[in-house]
Amino acid sequence: MNKKIVVVAGARPNFMKIASIVHAIEETPSAGLDFVLVHTGQHYDKLLSDNFFEDLRIPNPNYNLAVGSGSHAKQTAEIMVAFEGVLQKERPDLVLVVGDVNSTMACTLTAKKMNIKVAHIEAGIRSFDLDMPEEINRMVTDSIADYFFTTTQIANTNLRNAGAKGNQIFLVGNTMIDTLISNQCRISKPDLPDELLDSNYAVLTLHRPSNVDSERELINTITKVMEELKGMKAVFPVHPRTAKQLKNRVKSNLLVITPPMRYLEFIYLIKNSSLVITDSGGIQEETTYLNIPCITLRKNTERPETIDLGTNVLANMKDGTFESAMRVFNEGFIKNAKNIPFWDGKTGKRIVDTLSKIL
Ligand code: UD1
Repeated sequence: MNKKIVVVAGARPNFMKIASIVHAIEETPSAGLDFVLVHTGQHYDKLLSDNFFEDLRIPNPNYNLAVGSGSHAKQTAEIMVAFEGVLQKERPDLVLVVGDVNSTMACTLTAKKMNIKVAHIEAGIRSFDLDMPEEINRMVTDSIADYFFTTTQIANTNLRNAGAKGNQIFLVGNTMIDTLISNQCRISKPDLPDELLDSNYAVLTLHRPSNVDSERELINTITKVMEELKGMKAVFPVHPRTAKQLKNRVKSNLLVITPPMRYLEFIYLIKNSSLVITDSGGIQEETTYLNIPCITLRKNTERPETIDLGTNVLANMKDGTFESAMRVFNEGFIKNAKNIPFWDGKTGKRIVDTLSKIL
């Protein structure tokens, strides 16, 4: 009899990570796995959720827990209560969680308390910065999950240092890069003027609480970015959290503000850009794969390989590092990315083969 896996997704960056896994399960009947897809509803806007299911051809979820927004405690608690009901009904052999959002941690806790095994995809990455809610989610998830699927050797080392055993850890690569590779031929032009898309332009994304929750700092950051771009246009797809602070306060004819973009359009946008300035986790990896210069507006990163092997540099507005990064870029010194082992488009398949053996 086939083994049953409950696959969990909750927020935008999760959808790119589950896509390659559910497709690999569908394409490998010999693995003997069936999946039940649970969307927690942490992200519920069409622009942050449904469009990604369509673009990535992810099947409709079997359950949508529709938890919506709220404080961390409320959102986490509501996911746990609703997910417990799903597990009581489905009684799966394994729960599979991805990434580091509140849904990842909440569903891991729920499953483990019911003695159900958990596999964590993108396990072991660490910023060592407990001010980030995602770091807490990663640490809690990895302290109790059973199987760890990792993107790089550094993540394996972090897990071993935290007490995980070698036979629990599988270095398989990056499912977000699988999704990027398999959709490269499907990317589509965003609804922006050709004149802009054919020029040298930058892409800006900001959504971390540390960058956007103070209105004054957010506006300073955007103003500084525009100054340092020295006349280059920037496209800024604005996350709802950022939109609440921004209202319509920043006006510049060089800054093109758009709603959150569809996946296939966003990848077109970054692939054809000259520079990306971001505070996202996944975009650091995507720009490295696409060999597009990336400046990450954070103090640290849980993805150090994008700095060591990729195009990424860390910078912030407080100590001159952003200005120096921009000076290096404006002088034409661009880092070239090297290949990162296992970021080859076959990670989903490796995960399915491994799960098939384990279960
Ligand atoms: C969440 C994740 C973060 C991830 C990000 C990607 C956590 C702790 N954070 O942050 O790791 O990088 O998603 O987007 O899990 N909102 C909407 N529509 C939605 C969802 C949210 O308008 O569909 C609004 C909410 O009202 C809320 C704000 O956006 O005030 C933030 O949403 P929330 O899910 O709390 O966290 P994100 O900042 O999106």
